[in-house]
Amino acid sequence: MSSIDSTIQRITKTGDGETCAPELADGPWTFDLGVPSYGPGASMGDVIPTGAPRQGQLPLEYQQASNEDLHARIIAAKATLGDRAVVLGHFYQRDEVVQHADFLGDSFQLANAAQTVPNAEAIVFCGVHFMAETADILARENQAVILPNLAAGCSMADMADIDSVEECWEQLTEIYGTEPDADGRVPIIPVTYMNSSAALKGFCGRNGGIVCTSSNATTVLEWAYERGQRVLFFPDQHLGRNTAKKMGIPTDLMPMWNPNKPLGGNDAETLNEAKVVLWHGFCSVHKRFNVGQIEQARAEHPGVRVIVHPECPMPVVDAADEAGSTDYIQKAVAAATEPTTFAIGTEINMVNRLAAEYPQHTIFCLDPVVCPCSTMYRIHPGYLAWVLEGLVRGEVLNQITVADDVAVPARVALERMLAAKPPVTTKEA
Ligand code: 13P
Ligand code: SF4
Repeated sequence: MSSIDSTIQRITKTGDGETCAPELADGPWTFDLGVPSYGPGASMGDVIPTGAPRQGQLPLEYQQASNEDLHARIIAAKATLGDRAVVLGHFYQRDEVVQHADFLGDSFQLANAAQTVPNAEAIVFCGVHFMAETADILARENQAVILPNLAAGCSMADMADIDSVEECWEQLTEIYGTEPDADGRVPIIPVTYMNSSAALKGFCGRNGGIVCTSSNATTVLEWAYERGQRVLFFPDQHLGRNTAKKMGIPTDLMPMWNPNKPLGGNDAETLNEAKVVLWHGFCSVHKRFNVGQIEQARAEHPGVRVIVHPECPMPVVDAADEAGSTDYIQKAVAAATEPTTFAIGTEINMVNRLAAEYPQHTIFCLDPVVCPCSTMYRIHPGYLAWVLEGLVRGEVLNQITVADDVAVPARVALERMLAAKPPVTTKEA
């Protein structure tokens, strides 16, 4: 079994390759000391709700256990729990966690999966904080959603906080007013990427808006333009720009909003003409991909098929052969009938897994530097064993609970997304 852990440790100890995150080799528990370890979207810089659980140190017995021991303990705990607990795993999770997942998928599929297990008492979400929050919003009243490590956040989600978005909305409403046009379309509709705090999903629910994922962003933007003249898209500028461009919107009608500047750094005329106002967030993993890497892949592997995630910057998406969500990438590789060379622009755990699962193809990551999503990485099997054994003892550890005042409007925005019925895959860039 390939292990991103052992790869990073090898690189760090021997210098055999490059990693963007050598500190990960110390073990994810090193992050649980001295950092807030809780936040609406990530682990830093957010207001921690009163009474919310905080990530303490993982008990030593789990830190020191061998991978084999943890593997056996997870299997035993799952067997004891049976249908009482379900484990969801995102494609970016490490293999040692993925092999225990009852459902493996992208963020949209996992949000759906959380609704298909009404009899499970616990949903153990091996992913990041915003995904667990979404599962809690969609789950039944009596189900506990558990995030094995509370420090598993998302730096992109942290780039838009509710106060800054409310302030932006106030400024935009002052410019646009609230009157619908002759077709009944309101001046602006808020759209939040799934990779955001529950508070922002609630904001969208309260203001006629909707949630999207990378697999249904086009469907959701079409939904929004049927009801509004413009869209405020947050937090990921790249997904917003790539999707709007694919729909034929010129890039000069997509001003970016910097919350630290008056009018987001724009003048009123630009904002009046805008079709989509883009929040200035980005994913630190996908920001690493560049056009030079694509040129190199094409030079070294004539005929290579380049597929990237739409969180990559626009020039990268434009230079690639295709762009799509993690589910799109997975299905594109699975559907290739002839031996093919794929250069993939997404998180390394997923790329390595595809390479192992489809040996008939040559599959490699566009970025030669081994760079896992450092927050997804924090779900180590030690934490999974810890929360599952807690459930066996009747103890619910690391429960993610979204308060009703946020959950109720957030559910409205999520249900609008689920009803918008996205295609299973997105089309080429
Ligand atoms: P997907 O929506 O493709 O699952 O992506 C989630 C994510 O966090 C990508 O960085
Ligand atoms: Fe967030 Fe990027 Fe990690 Fe996805 S890959 S969870 S967007 S930091």
